[in-house]
Amino acid sequence: MDYNAATDAAIAKLHEEGRYRTFINIKREKGQFPHAVWTDEQGVDRDITVWCGNDYMGMGQHPVVLNAMHDALDATGAGSGGTRNISGTTVYHNELEAELADLHGKESALVFTSAYIANDATLSTLPLLFKDMVIISDELNHASMIQGIRHGNCEKHIFRHNDVAHLREILEGIEKGRPILIAFESIYSMDGDFGPIEDICDLADEFGAMTYIDEVHAVGMYGPRGAGVAERDNLMGRIDIINGTLAKAYGVMGGYIATSARLVDAIRSYAPAFIFTTSIPPAVAAGATASVRHLKGDQGLRDLQQQHAKVLKLRLKGLGLPIIDHGSHIVPVHVGDPVKCKNLSDMLLMEHGIYVQPINFPTVPRGTERLRFTPSPVHNPKMMDHLVDAMDKLWGQCALNRADLTG
Ligand SMILES: Cc1ncc(COP(=O)(O)O)c(C=O)c1O
Repeated sequence: MDYNAATDAAIAKLHEEGRYRTFINIKREKGQFPHAVWTDEQGVDRDITVWCGNDYMGMGQHPVVLNAMHDALDATGAGSGGTRNISGTTVYHNELEAELADLHGKESALVFTSAYIANDATLSTLPLLFKDMVIISDELNHASMIQGIRHGNCEKHIFRHNDVAHLREILEGIEKGRPILIAFESIYSMDGDFGPIEDICDLADEFGAMTYIDEVHAVGMYGPRGAGVAERDNLMGRIDIINGTLAKAYGVMGGYIATSARLVDAIRSYAPAFIFTTSIPPAVAAGATASVRHLKGDQGLRDLQQQHAKVLKLRLKGLGLPIIDHGSHIVPVHVGDPVKCKNLSDMLLMEHGIYVQPINFPTVPRGTERLRFTPSPVHNPKMMDHLVDAMDKLWGQCALNRADLTG
């Protein structure tokens, strides 16, 4: 076997299919978010504004988070030094889990190294606990949920995105008495649309199913204490397992589930991806706890984020740009062509110092390529003016369609 040739062929395939990924090398500047320095291909440092980050609230530079991390680092050192079972459970991990259980009004929470791992580990472990389990999953669920369901090796069904009639049809076809799990998201991050949480909970009640929600793009940002869309809609108590991340709105790193004490108790002892890996560093746990705690009380930050998202959508719509608007904080602008999408993103970066990563296949279906903006409380009006002007110019330059605003 010529291993190098096979590797080169796999990389060439990515190029041919337009799926080769280029990482933009940036250094974010603490205290100046969303400002960053981009080192371009010639090695020249250039000032940019990040418009596609998932540090949705700017908590990655918040003094409350940084102080907690500094204190924990000074007190306890760098890493945790072990798996949760073998010396890697510290007061910081326990404190974080208590904070998360309280956030979601659940008996317990379990922290993983990321929300990806939390989804994969939990969804693959549930079929071990519930014999003959069937998992029903929204077709647009995140890769980590798909992976977890695959690893669970149980019967699975996919329902059309947000289509509760289709979900009902599937439920009606399942033999009575079998354990069922319905897995879905509260906000789908590429379109920024909401899952029909209440309808799904109603169906779950009717068919005796458990509910599993991924609130990764909602925690910190929705609900009176930032517990997510289920909290906002008063539905948290009807969800059996809530998955969230500490890496996006909370600005740090790690993921978790919040659920019953007995489910946490089982999963922590059955899920290899929880058991056989080093726990997150204490300083990371401390920063996450501080962030969750802070956002429980900072409605002002949530309001500002929503306001910035609304203003950006309104202004881009005013230019006739095709915004996908489902009322969330995510602002996708439909381009519909992978080459134009990449060119737009390149020109925004090189000519205007605006960084927004092009979103192409396979992250989104072909023909729906887009730029996905994530306005945050730390984007100021001047930055927004600059972005709107640049989009106006480049949209014309790339000969992209605009809506007819005269009628
Ligand atoms: C819906 C969804 N779930 C889970 C994850 C994984 O989160 P994390 O970055 O904490 O692994 C992501 C990441 O983008 C996501 O979009």
